[in-house]
Parts: sequence; structure tokens; C-alpha cells
Amino acid sequence: MASINAKPGPVLGIETSCDETGVAVYDRGRGLLAHALYSQIKLHADYGGVVPELASRDHVRKLLPLIRQTLAEAGMDIKDLGGVAYTAGPGLVGALLVGAAAARSLAWALEIPAIAVHHMEGHLLAPMLEPEPLEPPFVALLVSGGHSMLIDVEAVGRYRLLGDTLDDAAGEAFDKTAKLMGLPYPGGPALARLAETATPGQRRFSRPMTDRPGLDFSFSGLKTQVLLAWQDSDQSDATRASIARDFEEAIVETLAIKCRRAMLETGRRLLVVAGGVGANRRLRSQLAEAGAADGFVTRFPRLEFCTDNGAMIALAGSIRLHAGQFNDPQIRVFPRWDLQSLPALA
Ligand code: KG4
Ligand code: ZN
Repeated sequence: MASINAKPGPVLGIETSCDETGVAVYDRGRGLLAHALYSQIKLHADYGGVVPELASRDHVRKLLPLIRQTLAEAGMDIKDLGGVAYTAGPGLVGALLVGAAAARSLAWALEIPAIAVHHMEGHLLAPMLEPEPLEPPFVALLVSGGHSMLIDVEAVGRYRLLGDTLDDAAGEAFDKTAKLMGLPYPGGPALARLAETATPGQRRFSRPMTDRPGLDFSFSGLKTQVLLAWQDSDQSDATRASIARDFEEAIVETLAIKCRRAMLETGRRLLVVAGGVGANRRLRSQLAEAGAADGFVTRFPRLEFCTDNGAMIALAGSIRLHAGQFNDPQIRVFPRWDLQSLPALA
């Protein structure tokens, strides 16, 4: 087999861990050159959630055309690539395998390295895609459909878990709550849009686990409180919006309380918010206010890079590649993968 050496050139990033096919080209010197996303929302909507087998098949259909489109938008030839990064986990195993197989095959054919990227590392480095420079150390709040974590980021690859969810992730709580009030999939953004139309304070849901020390989260009880409130109500559109607003308020305030606590405990001055729930406008404004009051700066990726995308994978892959970190030519994925097990940059 031909030897594989890192060569200069942009990195192609491929994201297929769940229900978005994301592709991007990132260059260390020039930044993000192009990115494209295909969302499978319509495909899964009838089922009220992601159907893993359908997700995998759709990634197979969409990935290669998206790669061609992204390279064309970047104005480059595939031979100019310096590496291919792909999400190797965590995620749905079949969906991950589509991206891993495509990335590994391309890298093998082009005789360039392939880089297995941790999806959550992609999310937490996503604010580095913005023009303002961003350097660790910082505390990251990672809030997605599968995770609610507070992480101390001492450096790229040096991650310490400060707090985690004991049950539902924040995004999952948004999605399940939306579903039980009859909102269409995917519920989180729909619920947030509806909440914007109502005034808060009609009822008070609890702020789970804020009355005791610690940085862990628990959101499943909140969902039950909403279910009871909804069942006891007139179930009108106005009530649905009002419950959505009070529920959003409870989640956002809970996250803000834990973030303030984490900043105080670590003494860090920078909070980075990432993951799909980072797109929530109330969360963005409450955390910005908390930072102004407590003396820390809060940074978010732009909205489109909060949810799953290829750009964050290309960026994380590029950082790892330039640190000389890429993997043996094997198609392996890690549906469960501890972020803290990643190596530090050399
Ligand atoms: O990071 P992401 O795209 O995928 C995962 O890795 O999970 O996050 C998706 C999650 C979903 O649960 C979705 O409902 C939630 O992020 N989400 C939101 C908003 N936009 C996306 N939750 C609340 N408010 C939003 N605006
Ligand atoms: Zn994600």
C-alpha cells in the first residue's frame, strides 16, 4: 500500500452521525472555503423521530453529490485535498458507517490521511469557525439532542467533565415536550418558535437540581410536569404556547444557573455554548446577561453551526491533522465514545 503522509491542503469534513448529511472544506490558513448541508427532517417527520435505517440509506444517497457540490463551491479539485475528516462517533452506528466508509475510501484513493473526529469535539470547537479568534481555556456548555454537558476545556483535547445529564438531554427534553403537546418533529425549534409568541409566568415549572450543589442536570421530571399541566388544561393554542414559554424558561434558567456555577468553580472567564440547543434565542440572551453580570464572556457559533454540520468536523479534523494526529486506515466507528478519552494535541 502507498505510504500516507500529511500534505498541505484543505481538509474535507463529513458529518453523518444522525439525520443531517454535512460536508465542508476547511483550510487552516484561509478558513472555511465551502459547506453544504442536507437535512433529513422531511424523511423522518411521519415517524415523529429519527428512523436509523432510513437515516443510513439517505446518507448513502446524498453524501457523494454533496461532496461534489462542496468541492465545486470551494473551486477546487479533489486532488488538492490534504485530508479527509469524518465523524466517527458518537452517533447512530449505521449512519456513522456511511460517512466513515466514504471518507476512508476517498482518503485511501487520494493517498492522504483520514481523521476520525469526535462529534462533540466538533461541536465545542465550532465557535472557532467565526472570525474572532477563540483560544482555550474555557468552559463549554454542550447541549444537543443527545447530550447536556459542562466541560472544562484546558486545551484542545484536554477535556474534563464537570457535569452531565442524569436522564434526558436538554434537546431531548425540548423534543419530547413538544411531541406530547402535539407539535411536529423536530420539536425543539418548533417549541422555541411557539414560546416566542407567549408571555412567561403563567405557571412555574421547577428548575431541576438547582437547589443542591453540583453541576449535573436532570430534565425528565420537567417533561412530566409539562404533561400534567397540558392534560389539566383546555389544550388551546394559546395554552400550548404559554406552556411552551414557561417550559423553555425553566430549562434556560436551569442551564444558566449551572453555567454561572461552573464559571465560578473553575474561575474561567470564557463560556462557549455549542450543540443544537445553543441555537435557542432565550438561552443565548440569558447567558449573555449572566456573563455581563458575573464578568465572563459568552461565545456561540453562528446559528447554522450550532446544529449538526460538516464545517465543525472539517475544522476539528484540520486541527488534529496539523498536530500530526490521524488514524490507521480502518473503517471503525464508535457509537459511544467518551470525550475525555481523546488525546491532547502534541
Ligand atoms: O446538535 P444537534 O443538531 O444534534 C445532536 O447532536 O443531537 O442538536 C439537535 C437538538 C434537537 O434536540 C433540537 O430539538 C435541538 O437541538 N434544538 C433546539 C433549537 N434548535 C435545535 N432546542 C431548543 N431551541 C432551539 N431553537
Ligand atoms: Zn450534534
